[in-house]
Formats: sequence, structure tokens, C-alpha cells
Amino acid sequence: MSQSWSTTGQQSLRKGVSLRPGNPFQSLRPELWTQPLTPWQLQYIQELSSYRLQRMPVQYILGEWDFQGLSLKMVPPVFIPRPETEELVEWVLEEVTQRSRVVRAQGGPLILEVGCGSGAISLSLLSKLPQSQVIAVDKGEAAICLANENAHRLQLQDRIRIIPLDVTLEDSWAHLLPWGPVDLIVSNPPYVFHRDMEQLAPEILSYEDPVALDGGEEGMDIISHILALAPRLLKDSGSIFLEVDPRHPELVGSWLQSRPDLFLDLVTVRRDFCGRPRFLHIQRSRPQRGCPADAWPVPQPPRVAG
Ligand SMILES: C[S@@+](CC[C@H](N)C(=O)[O-])C[C@H]1O[C@@H](n2cnc3c(N)ncnc32)[C@H](O)[C@@H]1O
Repeated sequence: MSQSWSTTGQQSLRKGVSLRPGNPFQSLRPELWTQPLTPWQLQYIQELSSYRLQRMPVQYILGEWDFQGLSLKMVPPVFIPRPETEELVEWVLEEVTQRSRVVRAQGGPLILEVGCGSGAISLSLLSKLPQSQVIAVDKGEAAICLANENAHRLQLQDRIRIIPLDVTLEDSWAHLLPWGPVDLIVSNPPYVFHRDMEQLAPEILSYEDPVALDGGEEGMDIISHILALAPRLLKDSGSIFLEVDPRHPELVGSWLQSRPDLFLDLVTVRRDFCGRPRFLHIQRSRPQRGCPADAWPVPQPPRVAG
């Protein structure tokens, strides 16, 4: 059903009532506010409602959704970007802006996104950081296609490389070496604990790709692979920004302590708009020779920010 909706329903939406995510009512011309609906429009609204009654997420019904001011095409089963992830993007932007002198001098930053989905994170960073370039990887074919389509829609395709890649495969980092080293890695990985999957809303379970959500027993399966490959790809003192479950700051901290060979420090934990610790800044702690010392902050003990 999702396929037939994405090809027919979304097209008919574009021909019909022009709904814009975010402010659908205000986007109607005032003369339409009191005008009775035509039979075609009524039938069309019934059609939309029937998809919603089947618990299809509104983002898939509309076929597009706003993220950081960008309108992105949405197609099931590619993961729908969540509002919390906008906070992750804002944090990355803050950190990059604080170091703008260095970033400008280097003509960057060069960013790697693991698990790009629709391209929400990568494309919003590119749109806000005109000097930046992104390498975006995902193991899902539908995600790779949609991220490419969104990059072209937003005319950002010249600054992004979208690469199909499963980061759990041995030597996956080797496929990325030709594009690096990178200034920072950002990811909203699959991090749901496997046992929590069945409690997700029907909208999620029936329409979104479980591969985008299920992080294994403790939600760490993909997170640990990202952390393990990061030191090979990051520039000296490069940073990793992750969105995680509130249980993960502790789990990731312990995991990093058990892997001193990676030389990665958890430097800051940030809370989301609900006050839950959801975002991590991890930094490579062993600069190598030739490193611009002020590229990223010197590692400090972990700090929980508001
Ligand atoms: C939670 S979604 C995030 C999508 C997008 N970054 C966002 O925030 O809207 C996680 C993404 O990781 C991808 N993914 C899952 N396992 C992966 C793997 N082993 N290698 C690369 N990508 C993977 C999924 O296909 C999915 O698109």
C-alpha cells in the first residue's frame, strides 16, 4: 500500500489542495477560507482521512515535511525526521560557528553523516554552512534514492556525496578513506533497544523501516560501529555528534572506557527539549602531529548541558 500511495496519492495531492506542512491553514488564499468544498475536494479529503485512519503518518500522506526550514520529500519506509534531531543539527551548527575561524581557514568543514535517511541532517547542515561538504552514507536503498532526490530538489547536490554503505561490514571505513579525513561525524543512528520496539506507535511499526530504528539488545549495535570506525576517519581532534536514547550516555561512557585504544572521550551530554539526555559530543583525544591545536576544543571531563 505504501508504494501505491507514494506514486498516486502524493501526485494527486500536488494537483489538488495545496497543503504545506507546518502552516496548512495559513497557506490557503483568504478567498478559499469560506468557499464550500467541491465534490472532488470532499472525495479527496475522505481519501486522505482513510489513509490516516489506517495509521499512515501524516508526513507520508502529504509526501513532504519541513526540517530546519527545508521542505523534504518523504516516502515510506524511509525514516521521518523527528523534531529532536533539529536540536542535534542546531548543536552542530553552534559548535562549527564557534570555530568558524578555523573552519573558514580550512575551507570546511567536511562532515560525515552515518545513516542519512531522507538527508534531513546532511542537507540542513549544507544549507546553513555554505563552505561545508558532506559525505552521507546509508545501508538502505530507498534512503539513498530519497536523499539523492532531496539533494537535487534543494540544489545542494554539488556539495554532497551519497554513498550506499553498511557501517557494520568489516572494513566499511576503508570505503570512506578516499573522501576523508573528516572534521566531524554526525549521526542519528538506529538506537531503540530491541525489547522496546514492539511498544512503538502503529504509525512507526507499520510504515517506517525497522532497520532505521532497531539498535539491537541495548540500542548500541550501530553506535558502537560508528565509534569504532571514527578514529580512522576523523581529523585530529575531530568530533562525533550523536542522537541517542536517554540510557545511552552512561552506556556509551562505559563502552568508551572499555576501548581506550580508540582515544575517544565523551565530552558533553546535552538534553532535548523534554529535558532528557539525548545528544552526545565525543571527541578524538589524541591529536596527531600537524594538528591545528585549536580546531576543536581540548577534551574536558563529561559535562551535562541543559
Ligand atoms: C534513525 S534513522 C535516521 C535518518 C536521518 N538521519 C534522520 O535523522 O532523519 C537511521 C538511518 O540509519 C540507517 N542505517 C541503519 N543501519 C545502518 C548501517 N548498518 N549502515 C548504514 N546506515 C544504516 C537506516 O537505513 C536509517 O536511514
